[in-house]
Amino acid sequence: MTDFSPLVFSGVQPTGNLHLGNYLGAITRFVEMQKSHACIYCVVDMHAITVWQDPKELARNTREVTAAFLAAGIDPAAHIVFNQSQVAAHAELAWVFNCVARMGWLNRMTQFKEKAGKHRENASVGLFAYPTLMAADILVYRATHVPVGEDQKQHLELSRDIAAKFNHDFAESIAAHGFGDAFFPLTEPLITGPATRIMSLRDGTKKMSKSDPSDFSRITLTDDADAIALKIRKARTDPEPLPSELDGLKERPEAENLVGIYAALAGVTREEVLRDHGGSQFSAFKPALADLAVTTMAPIAAEMRRLLEDPGHIDGVLTDGADRARGLAAATMDGVKDIVGFIHRSIAAG
Ligand code: TYM
Repeated sequence: MTDFSPLVFSGVQPTGNLHLGNYLGAITRFVEMQKSHACIYCVVDMHAITVWQDPKELARNTREVTAAFLAAGIDPAAHIVFNQSQVAAHAELAWVFNCVARMGWLNRMTQFKEKAGKHRENASVGLFAYPTLMAADILVYRATHVPVGEDQKQHLELSRDIAAKFNHDFAESIAAHGFGDAFFPLTEPLITGPATRIMSLRDGTKKMSKSDPSDFSRITLTDDADAIALKIRKARTDPEPLPSELDGLKERPEAENLVGIYAALAGVTREEVLRDHGGSQFSAFKPALADLAVTTMAPIAAEMRRLLEDPGHIDGVLTDGADRARGLAAATMDGVKDIVGFIHRSIAAG
């Protein structure tokens, strides 16, 4: 089998209301991964415009996600942080993947069905093709590991299917160009830890989301201490005390969610949370959770505010990251063009 060097890639959409689910399910894990792997973290502005975005807000939200990455501890000098639209190879590879992926595969994507709703005919073509661009994001760097929340699982499976079909359809050409038996890796999704699916604070059966109309459904990364405490105090719960064992959380989605949030914020397992808090009423657990959330999140929010006062610095980080990403992506695209049979500059140069 062709050997691929370990490389981490992940992305976050700049669509506003960055929340605790994004932070615990993705961003804190990005920070963790950079200790052991080379990492590329991308603000996926081209994905954002699959649904109309106000241009000023899009730019503001792109800087906000970048500030969250930096405030959480991602090191943009040792790794790569950039916004997607600055590296044209993402769109270029996405086109090739549009010709590899099948309509039937995309038709099965639950996120498209949810987002397009009843107005399918009115959804943008980009929204339908969203997963092929996502596969291109990952595979243009031939990334091997992708930390994400649970909701991205189906998209990552599709990326693997696209990689496998490309490797299969072009097998002869891949071998003939010296790439062995596979040009693209079958990427590993990393969906781990207690926070892969943080739920709404108003309804434990719905995931916490940027687009929920209720601001009380989510804690955002820009909420101040009072807002965080208030939202936790008002979070929906049931009348029972917390159980001492995980089994006791079954059929109690709100309790399970708050325990998961506590565990992820404290960096412990849910079992450990229940060992310490089993038997507590929510009237005691919620203030403990609010204290923990405020102490963990307030420094991040303060650092984000500080960073956002200097947009020039943030833009510099993104541009520098994009310059380095472009170099890596260009090498992959030369390979793709050779394999597919496109005439291009490296061939012309001899
Ligand atoms: P996005 O912007 O919706 O979310 C960013 C990350 O946050 C995770 N997440 C959650 N985790 C736990 N609980 C939640 N309630 C919750 N809500 C969101 C998401 O799983 C994600 O990891 N399609 C992607 C962006 C993307 C991407 C990529 C990701 C584009 N290209 C390539 C990985 C690799 C998205 O919309 O994420």
